[in-house]
Amino acid sequence: MSPLVASLNLYDIANVKGVAADLSHCNTPAQVSAFTGFAELPDSLKNVDLIIIPAGVPRKPGMTRDDLFKINAGIVRTLVEAAAEHAPNAWINIISNPVNSTVPIAAEVLKQKGVYNPRKLFGVTTLDVVRANTFVAQKKNLRLIDVDVPVLGGHAGITILPLLSKTRPAVEFSPEEIEELTVRIQNGGTEVVEAKAGAGSATLSMAYAAARFAESCIRALDGDESVYECSFVQSEVTELPFFASRVKLCKEGVEAFINADLNGLTDYEQTALEALKPELKASIEKGINFVKQSL
Ligand code: LMR
Repeated sequence: MSPLVASLNLYDIANVKGVAADLSHCNTPAQVSAFTGFAELPDSLKNVDLIIIPAGVPRKPGMTRDDLFKINAGIVRTLVEAAAEHAPNAWINIISNPVNSTVPIAAEVLKQKGVYNPRKLFGVTTLDVVRANTFVAQKKNLRLIDVDVPVLGGHAGITILPLLSKTRPAVEFSPEEIEELTVRIQNGGTEVVEAKAGAGSATLSMAYAAARFAESCIRALDGDESVYECSFVQSEVTELPFFASRVKLCKEGVEAFINADLNGLTDYEQTALEALKPELKASIEKGINFVKQSL
């Protein structure tokens, strides 16, 4: 839908032609092309500015995102290996779960191939922001368009850290509201997985969020100097090597980290930040070790 998309290459192991034919009838400037099977993966990556990876299997009720590691880790590694070879300068948006591990996997693969640019590798956590904005607007009867809640940390359970105290416009929350909203935002994905009862996880809201994030990337690539998004990136904002925080984007990727979001946290947020670190650290290390051990 973005007028900034000149061409859209769709790659999958099967059933791509129909999706491409379907999408190609939309009256947008994007030229849609289909690429099916591993042999066509290199061509799908030629001259590409932005790669979006939503590949892999979804959760079923009772599963955590980490339960997907066994299958999705290998898929992400294969795709990023191809990206490193055929589109080494492209920006990469990783949606495949567990994002807390798949982004470190991608970074490690790119490092091994000698083309890692941390400014251009992004874990898509926009759905956490989208959910936070929706739930806060509903709870406080606010105009949704005005609401913006930064969500930091990672993209799984307690690693998702909504900073309700930094909500714009400024809103007062009772301790009960903070607890209820935080838990709901952290469990947003699980809410959908359970409602779908075995038929997968969020696809439509995830597509909406991923499209928002991709469009932000493309706007930045196009020279817009006022693009800010939360994303799970290589980071020095905390002692963890990867961390989701608000970043300013520019033509070269991440331009700056909005460190100020971590100043003046409430006790509740500070405790939640400390509590998420061991789990996030373990997920990051699991991703890195997966690539190192398969050398
Ligand atoms: C989500 O947040 O909806 C996605 O990460 C999918 C999932 O398994 O929860």
